[in-house]
Amino acid sequence: MSQADGTREHLIGTYRKKAKHYDVTSRLYPVPGYPQQAQRRRAVRALGLRAGDTVIDIACGTGLNFPLIEQVIGPGGRIVGVDLTDAMLARAQDRARTYGWGNISLVQADAAAFDFPAGADAILSTYALSQVPECAEVIAHGAAALSAGGRWAVLDLKVPGSTPDWLAQLGTAAVRPFAAIDQWVMRRPWESIRAAMQEELADFCWAELFFGTAFLAAGSRRPGTSGG
Ligand SMILES: C[S@@+](CC[C@H](N)C(=O)[O-])C[C@H]1O[C@@H](n2cnc3c(N)ncnc32)[C@H](O)[C@@H]1O
Repeated sequence: MSQADGTREHLIGTYRKKAKHYDVTSRLYPVPGYPQQAQRRRAVRALGLRAGDTVIDIACGTGLNFPLIEQVIGPGGRIVGVDLTDAMLARAQDRARTYGWGNISLVQADAAAFDFPAGADAILSTYALSQVPECAEVIAHGAAALSAGGRWAVLDLKVPGSTPDWLAQLGTAAVRPFAAIDQWVMRRPWESIRAAMQEELADFCWAELFFGTAFLAAGSRRPGTSGG
């Protein structure tokens, strides 16, 4: 097994254990009282959705973004939820059944290998893309599949700019015990995400949230690019 496969297996194993209680425990993520729901609402707003839109939620987990998306797209729209972990998708399926949403398709796939359907109106990823080593490729593949004017938005955690690495490792160790936290801090994936989105999208905007502990990056498909 390659190192990448081993990392993926480890990640799946971790989220299989978390899936059952994820909706409750995630309210404490990354710390109790963190304004996660407000950040999610802001991320969904950044997509500029309209009724009937098709939205791809990358690494959707248990589907915590679905209610916010459904509120805008309505029954005439469509959500495609993509995630690596079967158990997280099973919870997402339960959520869709509970709410009676018949317009959600769930796909078990690595975001890095996912074949984005052409013509999506929006792509969203929350609290997940920084865990994907190939995040820049995922952004590029998604951007190429967007419809004209389609929007990409990424919300994720980051380390505040002025924090020394040793302190960042200490602070984030509590919330990512499963990940090689030192690698995450050293890799600074939010910088790769920012650079890729700036490269691939028009109207790029970047906002640091909650004292620089999170970011929202968003942009639209570049006019005149082929695909979608
Ligand atoms: C912290 S959870 C976030 C879930 C959801 N986006 C949310 O906002 O609640 C991270 C999710 O990313 C998924 N994930 C991690 N790496 C992935 C990859 N390479 N491809 C697809 N999903 C991945 C995990 O299975 C997990 O469900």
